Amino acid sequence: MKSLLALGAVALTTAALAWAGAEAQPKAGGAPVPVITKAAKGEHCVEDTAYMRRNHMKLLLVHRDRTVLQGIRTPKHSLKGCIDCHASEATGSVASAKEDFCVSCHSYAAVKIDCFDCHSTKPQRTTAMNPSHPHAASVSANVEEMAGVSR
Ligand code: HEC
Ligand code: HEC
Ligand code: HEC
Repeated sequence: MKSLLALGAVALTTAALAWAGAEAQPKAGGAPVPVITKAAKGEHCVEDTAYMRRNHMKLLLVHRDRTVLQGIRTPKHSLKGCIDCHASEATGSVASAKEDFCVSCHSYAAVKIDCFDCHSTKPQRTTAMNPSHPHAASVSANVEEMAGVSR
């Protein structure tokens, strides 16, 4: 009986610690503020940080249209690049845990994005597709599909 009680105490303590960890968030006057995970790679963002904070969505959408609709591929503002630098070291992803880069801020700002329904949230180990790649046919089919959606 004694050992059972001791076991219970241990379980409770562990639960309490886990809870404390989950709640370890800075508070500003009682309200939670977002904890933005530091970029794992790179000294600088693709543009000035303050500019990115306000304008990343525009950059991404312009870049998507240039790539998908006009077929212009430049790496500078690619979504793959964002994920390469901003994936968290803990989860390897930008959007699988609430602390992950894209989610941390969006849940605070109540922004919902559907980008990761299709795009991977983790850095891809494969090389970028080029037209002679065996999978290129299926990729361009997707591009046409997407171009259709956004028209
Ligand atoms: C229905 C599926 C789908 C959704 C949803 C979607 N995309 Fe895409 N996206 C694609 C496909 C397919 C391509 C073309 C394949 C490629 O170039 O990697 C693409 C290409 C892109 C590109 C250019 C390639 C790159 O890696 O930079 C960007 C930028 C992009 N999408 C951003 C977004 C953003 C931002 C959102 C959310 C607002 C989004 N996409 C939502 C399917 C989707
Ligand atoms: C070469 C690595 C690299 C790439 C590529 C990159 N970033 Fe960044 N980003 C950084 C660094 C470094 C910062 C500065 C803050 C930090 O250290 O986390 C930053 C800051 C930001 C911020 C502001 C965060 C804050 O603290 O307010 C946003 C938003 C952002 N990036 C979005 C993006 C998006 C979207 C893309 C893709 C279009 C992208 N980044 C591509 C490295 C990168
Ligand atoms: C510094 C906080 C912050 C970070 C980090 C951040 N976002 Fe955002 N994002 C916002 C805010 C705030 C908005 C809403 C802006 C508005 O409505 O004008 C937004 C909006 C967006 C939108 C447009 C959504 C819509 O429907 O209008 C996209 C797409 C987007 N973010 C992509 C990303 C991606 C991808 C990442 C991770 C690489 C990311 N964001 C990281 C703060 C952030």
